[in-house]
Amino acid sequence: MFPPKILIVDDEKNIRKTLGLVLEGEGYEVASTGSAEDGLTHLESEGADLMILDVKLPGMSGIDLLQKVRQGSPHTKDIPIIMISGHASLSEAVDAVKKGATDFFEKPLDRNSILIRVANCLKQRRLTLEVEELRAAVGERQELLGQTPVMKKLYEEIRKIAPTKGRVLITGESGTGKELIARAIHRMSQRVASPFVKVNCAAIPAELIESELFGYERGAFTGAHTRKPGQFELADSGTLFLDEIGDMSLTAQAKVLRVLQSGEMTRVGGQRSVNVDVRVLAATNRDLEEAVRGGLFREDLYFRLNVLPIKAPPLRDRLADIPILLKEFVTQFSKENGYREKGIDDEVLAHLCGYTWPGNVRELKNLAERLMIMSGDRITMNDLPEPIVGSKPATPFAPRFDGQRPTLREFRDSAERAYIRDTLEENDWNISKTATILGIERTNLHKKLKTLGLSRNNS
Ligand SMILES: Nc1ncnc2c1ncn2[C@@H]1O[C@H](COP(=O)(O)OP(=O)(O)OP(=O)(O)O)[C@@H](O)[C@H]1O
Ligand SMILES: [Mg+2]
Repeated sequence: MFPPKILIVDDEKNIRKTLGLVLEGEGYEVASTGSAEDGLTHLESEGADLMILDVKLPGMSGIDLLQKVRQGSPHTKDIPIIMISGHASLSEAVDAVKKGATDFFEKPLDRNSILIRVANCLKQRRLTLEVEELRAAVGERQELLGQTPVMKKLYEEIRKIAPTKGRVLITGESGTGKELIARAIHRMSQRVASPFVKVNCAAIPAELIESELFGYERGAFTGAHTRKPGQFELADSGTLFLDEIGDMSLTAQAKVLRVLQSGEMTRVGGQRSVNVDVRVLAATNRDLEEAVRGGLFREDLYFRLNVLPIKAPPLRDRLADIPILLKEFVTQFSKENGYREKGIDDEVLAHLCGYTWPGNVRELKNLAERLMIMSGDRITMNDLPEPIVGSKPATPFAPRFDGQRPTLREFRDSAERAYIRDTLEENDWNISKTATILGIERTNLHKKLKTLGLSRNNS
């Protein structure tokens, strides 16, 4: 939108000229046509960020053009359109606003008023575009990715669980996508048009959690100048996501339990109870059963929340998804930052498929960002950070890049390679000692190292 392009459509040459000069003087890029037909052609070929359009035109009228644009191409259909009207056609201008014009100027035109209103319309347009872009970007990032059997099973569970009213407890290690799962459940439920409200239970101090969840009445405590709705009320008719529920204090647990039992809540300082229709999803990376045994989590609340359990699988259980995830993260990151996309060496992918990923998908996503910033034209082994390069495979064999199961031969070779390498490492690459432990001849071990491509610097 820089500089913003403005299209003037008016059959009076003088108006085109003076208006054009005023707008160009402010740094806008101006084009003009004398008829609605030419205006439409220009808009379709060149586009515009704003149109100033005379109501009365020979041939197709300004109002007709307005309606054509509003029903036309998605790129231009929402641009601001300001109508110009003479005193006699004022009622038509008002009518035009009803038909989708953004604003109108009355003749004689006033320079300052034109500039202010043009600037306002453009500002509004820019904000709308930004919101759309952010929405698209957020939506994209919220997609769960992965095609391995464990992920397919997860999608199946989400599909079954989403349309019901049942409470869901999502468990799994840190960075496994618990929040994405919660959002997917909401998106696929009948509550999709109502709010999804997330509460991070670990981040709210125990003494504030009650007013945060249930809101308060005016005057409930010092500083409560106005009534404030809580998260339960904000999520009414929608979904409330209680994240990190394992970190909630026992006092707060008792209060949440009461709402779940009765479907009613009372604001802090309030007399009446309020009905709320909220579907609760909860998530935690703690072992809640153990917390229950240790007296840190209420058993009754645990049972209320855990109606439909979902487990977010750790990344090491779906290593074959790594190439898909990495490529997607690299693409997303390049788009967001305007970087050119980079190729990734097969060797890098193979190595990543063998790492244990204690930080799960979040760790992989952070790595993708780091690789995009730090690497050259291609992502190569040299770009991988030490803990990953130095790691040993998580499984006896690294899955192939395409996610297929390896052949028996591939499995045997990589298992053999891993076992020999580990034994050599443990014995500081002492060949005789290793050969003895493995029960083979020294010469035989040398031969194997060669065929398996193993050496001290390349293992
Ligand atoms: N299956 C997936 N596909 C695509 N992105 C994913 C997937 N799983 C996780 N991510 C991404 O990894 C990051 C961590 O995911 P999320 O916040 O949902 O994890 P979490 O399980 O809630 O972690 P924590 O317990 O630390 O809060 C996010 O940026 C998310 O977009
Ligand atoms: Mg989370």
